Amino acid sequence: MPIIPRVAELQPDIQAWRRDLHAHPEVMYDVHRTAAFVAERLRAFGCDEVVTGLGQTGVVGVIKGRRPGGVIGLRADMDALPIEEETNLSYASKTPGKMHACGHDGHTAMLLGAAQYLAETRNFAGSAVVIFQPAEEGGAGALAMIEDGLMDRFGIQQVYGMHNNPGMPVGSFGLRPGPIMASMDRISINIEGRGGHAAYPHKTIDSVLVGSQLVVALQSIVSRSVNPLESAVLSICVFRAGEVGNVIPSTAELRGTVRTLKPEVRDLMEQRMNEVVQGIALQSGARIVLTYDRGYPVVVNHAAETDIAARVAGGIAGAAQVNTDLVPIMGAEDFAYMLEARPGAFIFCGNGDSAGLHHPAYNFNDDAIVFGTSYWVRLVETTLAA
Ligand code: NI
Repeated sequence: MPIIPRVAELQPDIQAWRRDLHAHPEVMYDVHRTAAFVAERLRAFGCDEVVTGLGQTGVVGVIKGRRPGGVIGLRADMDALPIEEETNLSYASKTPGKMHACGHDGHTAMLLGAAQYLAETRNFAGSAVVIFQPAEEGGAGALAMIEDGLMDRFGIQQVYGMHNNPGMPVGSFGLRPGPIMASMDRISINIEGRGGHAAYPHKTIDSVLVGSQLVVALQSIVSRSVNPLESAVLSICVFRAGEVGNVIPSTAELRGTVRTLKPEVRDLMEQRMNEVVQGIALQSGARIVLTYDRGYPVVVNHAAETDIAARVAGGIAGAAQVNTDLVPIMGAEDFAYMLEARPGAFIFCGNGDSAGLHHPAYNFNDDAIVFGTSYWVRLVETTLAA
């Protein structure tokens, strides 16, 4: 059971929607044109219910099957990125400084295609809820929709997400049970020492030296506190201090990110960071304030739903094209919140040999449309068999 013939027929339309969305990127919650585009089509397909403005600018469509039954949620993201496009495509971004560099144009178009097919055929028992969220890129749009009642209002019992993956062949899929993408926390550290003449360091508390000690000591948490068989990343990406070469500055600022694949490792990272900061403050005499800001949680795939997703993907692509032991990715995804709220699974679909995600030369691969759309359709028809 490879690609669905009707989906292949719909491909030119889906591709045209994708390219239209690509030319008109919008970022974060400011996805008004995209949301209107989605809602208009969902209504035209004959969805039983179309709700806009959920989680500010999210859109939800409900498609009822032939008979009553369970409720499945399928999620796509609609937002683009603040990146200047460098693709030279005929349908490149018309908005300077904004670009669909993560393929959310493709995700949105594929789920629209699936919605059209499902509304035409209704060969399932229960309801398919198609979810189009804003602000995946750092704005926690998924959480905003959940807090606006997404799961309860539509009675969603299980939820699935999909993202394209450059480097994986078109027509292939990848996933794994358990943690598949990392948690993403922001850290900032403000150091307040005592400035002074560079020739008299003994009369200062050198914020640059304190910051340097912190950068090194914090890395020892990853190598000495975290179990070597577990995963953690701590990256200090900003180190700001000083103005001139002969003055020891009084303050310094560090900023960075922490990524982990397990809640307990995440807790350990935060706890140990606080202890290291206190220790260096005591030793140096500087005042050090650590702000540990928790962002997206770990994306944890549920076992039973991952099995179903893998089976459906195998039906589309052939079992050999489905990697069910995908190496976890240390990037983050706010679909994590949906998997905290309901059982489900997140899957990657191959984008071929394209530029990487968030790269100015990236483009979603239209050849992947038939595979992604067929996956959504069969997932509904399998989990909610009529
Ligand atoms: Ni993305």
